[in-house]
Amino acid sequence: MKKIKILEKTFELFISSDEIDAINKRLAQAINRDFNGREVMFLPILNGAFIFAADLIRQVNLSCNVSFLKLASYKGVQSAGDVVKLIGINENLRGKVIIIIEDIIDTGITISELIDNLKEQGPAEINIVTLLYKPDKCVREIKIDYLGKEIGNRFVVGYGLDYNGFGRNLPDIYQEVVTSHF
Ligand code: IMP
Ligand code: MG
Repeated sequence: MKKIKILEKTFELFISSDEIDAINKRLAQAINRDFNGREVMFLPILNGAFIFAADLIRQVNLSCNVSFLKLASYKGVQSAGDVVKLIGINENLRGKVIIIIEDIIDTGITISELIDNLKEQGPAEINIVTLLYKPDKCVREIKIDYLGKEIGNRFVVGYGLDYNGFGRNLPDIYQEVVTSHF
């Protein structure tokens, strides 16, 4: 098993670039089929989704716009939790068919805050495509329209996903090797 080290953590190969290609092909086919004849606006979430979005969108044959979003989250001073601020949305979203592109949904807090924010701008519909999803860690009810792969709780890097900023350039996805102390 191929192992790599990023900072102090050790990772092992988890999802090969071939498997990722197959996932992307399946997701793009489903999107092409479901939105056939309609215009869509892709909103990839930076930084993590940049590579996934580039690969996915190149297989989409719809009339579409692409606008990257960046989220800045601040820990709420009160118990309200995280506040998500959107950077980069200068498009008018009213009446638009939106497809959010995420790299991974973990607790689901980021995406649910984002959806609440986008809804205020009056889009016709909001759809979600995510490459990865950790169902056991998710604490929010989220309707994922297009899912690449469900994974366990372990931390993953590569293909746009980072560990403290590193590892985004890896063509495959790796998962953290958790050493047992027993
Ligand atoms: P959530 O709000 O917990 O769903 O967090 C989602 C964001 O956390 C993702 O967009 C990623 O940027 C980051 N994240 C969550 N899990 C991982 C992981 O296993 N590896 C790398 N980044 C992750
Ligand atoms: Mg992200």
